[in-house]
Amino acid sequence: MAGTVTVVFGTQFGDEGKARIVDYLAQNASVVVRYNGGDNAGHTIVIGANGQQRKLVLHYLPSGIVRPGVVNVLGRGMVLSPGRLITEMEQVHSAGFPVTPKSLIISPGAHLTLSFHQALENAEEDEGDRRNTTRRGISPTYAFKHLYQGVRVCDLAHLEHAQERVRQPLAHANAILERVYERDTVAMEVVMAELEACVPHLLPFVRDEAYYLKDRLTAGEHVLCEGAQGLMLDVDLGIYPYSTSSNTTPAAVNAGAGIDLLRWDTQVVGVAKAYISRVGDGPLVAEIRDERGETIRERGNEYGATTGRPRRIAWFDAMLANHCAVVCRPTKLAITKIDILSGIPIEDCYGYRMAGERVRAFPVSMQDLAACEPVLGKVPGWDRDITGATYWDDLPPRCQQYLEMIGEAYKAPIGLVSTGPERSQLIVR
Ligand code: IMP
Repeated sequence: MAGTVTVVFGTQFGDEGKARIVDYLAQNASVVVRYNGGDNAGHTIVIGANGQQRKLVLHYLPSGIVRPGVVNVLGRGMVLSPGRLITEMEQVHSAGFPVTPKSLIISPGAHLTLSFHQALENAEEDEGDRRNTTRRGISPTYAFKHLYQGVRVCDLAHLEHAQERVRQPLAHANAILERVYERDTVAMEVVMAELEACVPHLLPFVRDEAYYLKDRLTAGEHVLCEGAQGLMLDVDLGIYPYSTSSNTTPAAVNAGAGIDLLRWDTQVVGVAKAYISRVGDGPLVAEIRDERGETIRERGNEYGATTGRPRRIAWFDAMLANHCAVVCRPTKLAITKIDILSGIPIEDCYGYRMAGERVRAFPVSMQDLAACEPVLGKVPGWDRDITGATYWDDLPPRCQQYLEMIGEAYKAPIGLVSTGPERSQLIVR
């Protein structure tokens, strides 16, 4: 039997509640893979039920780490800060979820975020062209990767050559720190000590993930790929330069973990929140500017899992959904946080207008996007609290209609609807 792959990705600006969907889908997977980003992602999962819940916030480790027997993979498309990764591995391990070379594989091709990448991002955010990043050193790490000056996990096995790998990017970063930002530079000894310290903690986990995954798939197993961030933060398809610096969509699975999606039986699950939230700067056309935004933020606990920043809230936006349908249409949709909207007089944004004209394609230029006005419509809402509903038929008809409207905007069938943060609060259709 041929192997199967499910890719879960965010269809909006990240924070759609992907981890919760991945946690559910991981039940049937033997391997869970991350293929992009780093610890700019924050995945909160809730374990246990009936007042015994515990929250676990994961930044690097795939959500499968809490499921016994599941192998978790950090793919080569990721960027890893060794110190923070090791801390997370130790924390999760001591929370009772074993992190061993049997449960975790780290790709030799993943790039390392080192202290000079971090120092550069801090300087740029403090004094340069501030973009409100998560300040995890993500974009300098990807930038050096594309300058062919990256330091990779595989370099840890050849520390005698690592100084050579580090020399050029360090000189480059230090020149910017010193001359552009008048900041302290980072010494070679500091970087080398950083690399040496992580060798014993990380090397035992290093294994070529592409060949490993091919073998598991050939054996007929099921692999789940967990995208970080979301379509609108994709560096090519999203709202550049307010995006992140990696490709976030299912297409990135191939380069980011070496899985040839065309070869295997593949499902693509797009995760969409029932409204829109966003951290960071940049135009947000359907942003809610009255107290309903605040109500949704509070009820939905819309504060960044990584940075604690309050998220901006917007109405469901059909232009975003249509963009997703055009560039990476999911085979199935998972809608989250519908319970948050009960009792709120809702609106939806069913189009954009620029200079009086309806806009067809989601704008590529941020100047054009900033010039767009939302075309809003009132939506018949529902009053009944639907938290914890587990059957579609338990939802009020108006709530069902709202969900169907979302499905139509994405041109994708609705497969899952989450009605609360607990594992059991899920409708499977
Ligand atoms: P960076 O990824 O830290 O470079 O940040 C670039 C932009 O992406 C900022 O607006 C961040 O707030 C946003 N971002 C990065 N990761 C996430 C995420 O996991 N969820 C939501 N927004 C994110």
